[in-house]
Amino acid sequence: MGHRGAKALAPENTLSSMKAAAAAGARWVEFDVMLTADGEPVLFHDDTLQRTTGVKGAMAKTPFAKVRGLDASLGFARRYGLRDGRRFVGRADCRVPSLEDTVACLLELGLTPNVEIKPTAGLAAETAELALTRMLALWPQDRLPPLISSFERASLAVAQRVAPHWPRGLLAGGFPRDWRQAMAALECASLHLDWQRTRRADVAAVKAAGYAFAVYTVNGVRAGRRLLDKGVDCLITDRPDLLLAGLDG
Ligand code: G3P
Ligand code: MG
Repeated sequence: MGHRGAKALAPENTLSSMKAAAAAGARWVEFDVMLTADGEPVLFHDDTLQRTTGVKGAMAKTPFAKVRGLDASLGFARRYGLRDGRRFVGRADCRVPSLEDTVACLLELGLTPNVEIKPTAGLAAETAELALTRMLALWPQDRLPPLISSFERASLAVAQRVAPHWPRGLLAGGFPRDWRQAMAALECASLHLDWQRTRRADVAAVKAAGYAFAVYTVNGVRAGRRLLDKGVDCLITDRPDLLLAGLDG
């Protein structure tokens, strides 16, 4: 599963990143959904705009009319070196995308989304409500359903109510002590953990309980192979090209 599209191949959480993931052979893409000041669900990871757009301000205080025009490739250009990053600057598919534009793009590319609800503090329920309502209106019933994940249990509880038939993934850093109760209460399908904190015995326990196990963010073939050997079902990666080539078969 590509992470934020394919974060190492194109600017994260933009349509260019979804295209890069598809071109690399990924069939699933994870991305983060936040709300603008006026409640529009958009693809974005940080509370503040600076890192990926170079603009000052908070997403939760910026209206969609401004957000939609922001170029999210600036951080990418800086992180990966201008010579490589420059080709993304100013491209229409590198602006901060709405959920609506993203779904249209994914359907064209044949990708299935893992929608991570990424609320600004205090907006866990509202972000899930608006993102899920929009997804339900946009996502065709005859396609594989999206996977809805979040670190915020309050967001997952809303997903459970609004889109009960779509699978939910509980996100955590380390293995949560109360995973059994939490996953049962939220009727989750999967647990998503930091790969560096993923132990073989925990994977076995979760799988024995009937859940799938995903890990983020795995960017090396050797680490990927070890995790698959531990029984992990899904590798969330910035480099789907590398992992698909290196783990083939
Ligand atoms: O969904 C997996 C991963 O994206 C969670 O961490 O901070 O990259 O959204 P983060
Ligand atoms: Mg994420």
